[in-house]
Amino acid sequence: MLIRHPHDIPPSDITDPAHYAARRKFIQTLLLAGGAGALGMAHGNPLDSVPGASLGKLQSSPLSLTDEKATPLKSVTGYGNFYEFGPDKESPAKHAHRLRTRPWSITVDGEVKTAKTFAIEDILKWAPLEERIYRMRCVEGWSAVIPWAGFPFSELLKRVEPTGNAKFVEFWTLSDPEQMPFTRIPFLDWPYMEAIRLDEALHPLTILAVGMYGETMPKQNGAPIRLVVPWKYGFKGAKSIVRIRFVEKQPETTWTKAGPEEYGFYSNVNPDVPHRRWSQSHERRLGEFFKRKTLPFNGYAEQVASLYAGMDLRKHF
Ligand code: MTE
Repeated sequence: MLIRHPHDIPPSDITDPAHYAARRKFIQTLLLAGGAGALGMAHGNPLDSVPGASLGKLQSSPLSLTDEKATPLKSVTGYGNFYEFGPDKESPAKHAHRLRTRPWSITVDGEVKTAKTFAIEDILKWAPLEERIYRMRCVEGWSAVIPWAGFPFSELLKRVEPTGNAKFVEFWTLSDPEQMPFTRIPFLDWPYMEAIRLDEALHPLTILAVGMYGETMPKQNGAPIRLVVPWKYGFKGAKSIVRIRFVEKQPETTWTKAGPEEYGFYSNVNPDVPHRRWSQSHERRLGEFFKRKTLPFNGYAEQVASLYAGMDLRKHF
């Protein structure tokens, strides 16, 4: 993002999907062998607390892609942005093990009748988890196809009542210098916060994800819970959410504050609107060599274009 130019994906990222199948098997074997205590899973549901544990059977979703192969897990966990753990693409994989994902709760406040705090264990019971295979694209030009596990954001609306003033939703993420050493350095305005319009949040494609590739969320990808909005650039997908706030006015977000000319509030994937420093016309899938054309709204135009009817998307980029 602002911090670093994109570079080519190292060949080490090209990994056989057999790798994650083998890892899942390894974790399951550990659980069966009674190794849960050693992994810090002594209490309650072991699936709650350890990234990389099997989520069991997930509901399939008609909103999943069916025509594209998932990107190898190792590429998705080994290369990404989570600036609280450092500025390099490899920093999250190296340092996110410091993140403590239990106890964890999300406070929902702002323009709601009653503010509430939900423990992650309860959130996990809100709805059967669905697998959502989505195309994802980063503003820096890399992309991936990821089988997320999660539930629609709209499930939250069954538990809280926004007031008539609620027009936007803010997603605030953990900022703890003890666990996240880079939050001691104010190169971004911590805590990391992203926001979308309420109707975007309620679109059926928008999910709160608690896992990927059939397993609980890896820490570097935003454990225990993150936002996924597949038609927007990746930075909208706030990781490790601790607070959801409903507000009336379009807020400033971490990235609009960091560079308003480079990061618009909407950030819909748009190959025709170049980023100040990078074209957005093409992208490279993690683990692949050749670039491919970027699709408007990341290929989800049919489902989401109507949300922006009448808006000039060059102005509202
Ligand atoms: N969430 C937090 N809390 N901190 C971050 O630095 N980076 C964003 C987004 N969510 C970020 C974050 C950016 S820039 C991108 S591209 C995606 O996470 C990357 O997600 P991934 O590593 O799962 O691909």
